[in-house]
Amino acid sequence: MNKVSEPRSQWGGNWTEEKLEAFEKYVNAYLTIMTAQKQKYNGWPTTIYFDGFAGSGKRTSPSNEEENNLFSDYLVKEELEVYKGSAERVLSLTQKFDYYFFVDSDKSSISSLEKIMKEKGIVNNNCHFVNDDVNNQLNILSNFINDKKATLVLLDPFGMQINWSSIEKLKGKRVDLWILIPSGVIINRFLDKKGKFLFKNKLESFFGLNEDEIKKKFYETEQVESLFGTIDIINKTNDSVNKIAELYIERLKGIWNYVSD
Ligand SMILES: C[S@@+](CC[C@H](N)C(=O)[O-])C[C@H]1O[C@@H](n2cnc3c(N)ncnc32)[C@H](O)[C@@H]1O
Repeated sequence: MNKVSEPRSQWGGNWTEEKLEAFEKYVNAYLTIMTAQKQKYNGWPTTIYFDGFAGSGKRTSPSNEEENNLFSDYLVKEELEVYKGSAERVLSLTQKFDYYFFVDSDKSSISSLEKIMKEKGIVNNNCHFVNDDVNNQLNILSNFINDKKATLVLLDPFGMQINWSSIEKLKGKRVDLWILIPSGVIINRFLDKKGKFLFKNKLESFFGLNEDEIKKKFYETEQVESLFGTIDIINKTNDSVNKIAELYIERLKGIWNYVSD
């Protein structure tokens, strides 16, 4: 539920910069390896970069109140910081991918990103700015890629927008994936303390598991004596944030042979 339809540019914290810096280094190393491969194998593989949550190319700092509000991630403030998002970092590298796909479901954000990147002079004809849901585009990507196409995918959402079925389609493809799992915020809050599962559909599509399978991981049943006899009480497990990460990593290991813990 976004409060405005202007570019959604307000998100993240200081860790965002750290994450993007680490990612930039990784992309550079990836391109160095791919360039060597291309030299060795007659120009193969074709390299593709896919950013599923490309953003607007700018960011403002959220207040604490906004950070604490589950759905108000994107209240727009006028004051813009000097900010280098994932798209600008990747497009500014000296080494290049053969194709770039920047996806954002918000039309004004992707238009803003395209405009800013063009103004900076770092866009070429092989850059595509796509206004669509990431799940649709991952579907298209998975049908398009094969052994001769090496793809680096960045999925950096603020919430639980990625369906597990979209990740699953990348199985067996030549894909390196960087994915952000917002374990401490939205997912953990959706797993309510008493296991009422108010966001059942969202949790199921996110993990690609059914309600019972998810409950087994995050809830324990305790039997307590009451005036009416023995009753079952459901409690959320301690350490749920780490368990969310653990479970997602476990799921990823079913898709890729090498998954970083
Ligand atoms: C956390 S930002 C991405 C930031 C970007 N990686 C950067 O470094 O600047 C989230 C963006 O994801 C977009 N978004 C949200 N849901 C989406 C979806 N289902 N598919 C594609 N984009 C989505 C929002 O419009 C927003 O621009």
